[in-house]
Amino acid sequence: MKGGREPQAGRADNMPLVTSHEVLRKAKRGKYAVGAFNANNMECVKAVIEACEELKAPVILQISQGAIKYAGLEMATAMVKAAAAEAKIPVVLHLDHGTSFEQNVQCLQVGFTSLMFDGSKLPYEENVETTKKVCEIAHAVGIGVEAELGIIPKIEDGYSKKEIEAMFTDPDQAAEFAKATGCDSLAVAAGAVHGMKSRGAGLDFDRITEIAKKTKLPLVQHGSSGVPLKTLQKAITCGICKINVATRVSMALLAGTKRAWDQDPEAKDFRPIFKEGMSEVRKVVSEYVHKLGCAGKG
Ligand code: G3H
Ligand code: 13P
Ligand code: ZN
Repeated sequence: MKGGREPQAGRADNMPLVTSHEVLRKAKRGKYAVGAFNANNMECVKAVIEACEELKAPVILQISQGAIKYAGLEMATAMVKAAAAEAKIPVVLHLDHGTSFEQNVQCLQVGFTSLMFDGSKLPYEENVETTKKVCEIAHAVGIGVEAELGIIPKIEDGYSKKEIEAMFTDPDQAAEFAKATGCDSLAVAAGAVHGMKSRGAGLDFDRITEIAKKTKLPLVQHGSSGVPLKTLQKAITCGICKINVATRVSMALLAGTKRAWDQDPEAKDFRPIFKEGMSEVRKVVSEYVHKLGCAGKG
C-alpha cells in the first residue's frame, strides 16, 4: 500500500480488529491462505471465531450484500466487533462485494478494517475509476482494498462452462488494473462459481500463477464452497492468499440445526438446537483452517 499510515485501524478504541493488509501480507510471505467466512448471524460469527481460536488462526469475517439486507449494516458490524473484542486471534472485518464508493465510505466510517469494491460487471474503465477512488480514501487511513476483475458468476445465473471461461480474468489486464487502481488484493475469475452446494469446480492454475506473477498482489478465491479442498491447496501454491467460504458454512448451520430439531421435534427452546448448528459450522471452519495452512498463524 502506497502512502497512508501503517495500518492500525480498529486498534484506536482497543478493538483487536486487524487489517486485511497485515494478515494477507503475512499469508503471501508464508505461502498459506486465510479463511474468509461470511458473518450472517451471531451463531456463524461465534462458531467461526471459536474454531479459529482453537487452532490459533487469523480470520476474516466478511459482511456480504445479503448480510447487509438480512441483519443491517450496523447490526452485522456490531456482531463482528463484539466477537472480535473477546477473541484471542487477529480478526479482520471485511466488506464482501461492495457495490459502490458510497457503501465503502459507510463501511470505513463504522470501522471496517478491509474493503472491497466489486466493479467486475462494469466496463473496465469504470471499474478502474471507482476502485481507484475507494483505494485513495481507504489508504489514507491505512485500510486495504480488494478489487475484482473478470466475473465470478453465481450458480443461479446458469452459465455454461464456455460462458464461464469467457469471463476469466486476463493476466495482462490484471497487471494494468493493479497498477492503475493501487488495489491491495485481487479477486480472480478462474473457474469457481458462487453458491455451489457440491465441490465440482476446477481452477485454471496457470492463469492464477500468471496473474500473481504479473500483479504481485495477494489473490482472492471466491466461490470456494464449490472447489475441492485439494484444488484450493494447489491454488494457494499459485498465489491465492484469501479463501472466501459462505455456502458451506450456511449449509453446515442448516444441517446441524435440522439434525438436532429432528431428534427433538417437540423442542420449544431454539438455543440447544442452534448449538448443534454451530457445532457443525465449527467442524467446517476447522477443516478449512487446517487445509489452508493458517492454523497456528494467529
Ligand atoms: O459472494 C457472495 C456471498 O458468498 C454470498 O452473498 O450473502 O449476498 O448471498 P449473499
Ligand atoms: P461461496 O458461497 O460459493 O462459498 O462463495 C463465497 C464468496 O465468494 C464470498 O465472497
Ligand atoms: Zn464472492
